[in-house]
Amino acid sequence: MASRTFRVWRGNADKGDFQTFQVEVDTGMVVLDVLHRIQAREAGDLAVRWNCKAGKCGSCSMEINGKPRLSCMTRMNSFGPDETITVQPLKTFPVIKDLVCDVSWNYKQNKRIARFKPKPRDPDGNYRMFQEDVDRVQEFRKCIECFLCQDVCHVLRDRDRKDAFVGPRFMIRLAGLEMNPLDTDDRIPAIRKEFGSGMCNITRCCTEVCPEHINITDNGIIPLKERVVDRYYDPLAMLGRKLFGIGKRR
Ligand code: SF4
Ligand code: SF4
Ligand code: FES
Repeated sequence: MASRTFRVWRGNADKGDFQTFQVEVDTGMVVLDVLHRIQAREAGDLAVRWNCKAGKCGSCSMEINGKPRLSCMTRMNSFGPDETITVQPLKTFPVIKDLVCDVSWNYKQNKRIARFKPKPRDPDGNYRMFQEDVDRVQEFRKCIECFLCQDVCHVLRDRDRKDAFVGPRFMIRLAGLEMNPLDTDDRIPAIRKEFGSGMCNITRCCTEVCPEHINITDNGIIPLKERVVDRYYDPLAMLGRKLFGIGKRR
């Protein structure tokens, strides 16, 4: 057992500050365990959101020593023995209390995305896809909605352009639909205009923080941006569509 210094942000939407705790930490603990120990021993009213403690529910997102991370997957032995651990709520979303934010903006974005519109089944009643298409879409479906990527994206975080860009989490949801060969909806106009694909300048910060290791930028956002360019800025593709009615690009 070792004593560690934790600085935990306490407050609400109006005001707040860091409170320092000296905590006894056992071998094998993660940051969420230490926060629970602080709740149990020193600050019973400390607000922390969590559910699974297994890196799968996406609830325990916070900023730990300045990096967006899941507190249940951040092991205490990943810090230096004398390092102070500073814990604060996600910066991109409004604080409700202590480490708990209001992330409801994200759920509103989710509702704006038109649902999957599958083409008719094959005559034998089945749907068929190539395995490579299944694999491609499957990667995007690993998302646990932790919103760490939304938190780190500078378009939402520093520029506060939530009015213009839906953010990386929803770009990959759109990618999962747009790249699904069974989906019949033409999503490119909305990806460009309503969801703001042009706002992303491919910094890859979102990919770096994703706990599910989804290659958000290279596998999701860049292919969507390419499809937008093909549709709106590639003169040959535009001519092809006019002459031959070529629609959704695969
Ligand atoms: S790559 Fe795009 S979506 Fe990801 S953090 Fe950078 S600007 Fe945001
Ligand atoms: S894409 Fe990754 S970082 Fe973003 S919400 Fe999903 S799991 Fe979290
Ligand atoms: S508590 Fe579920 S991901 Fe951390």
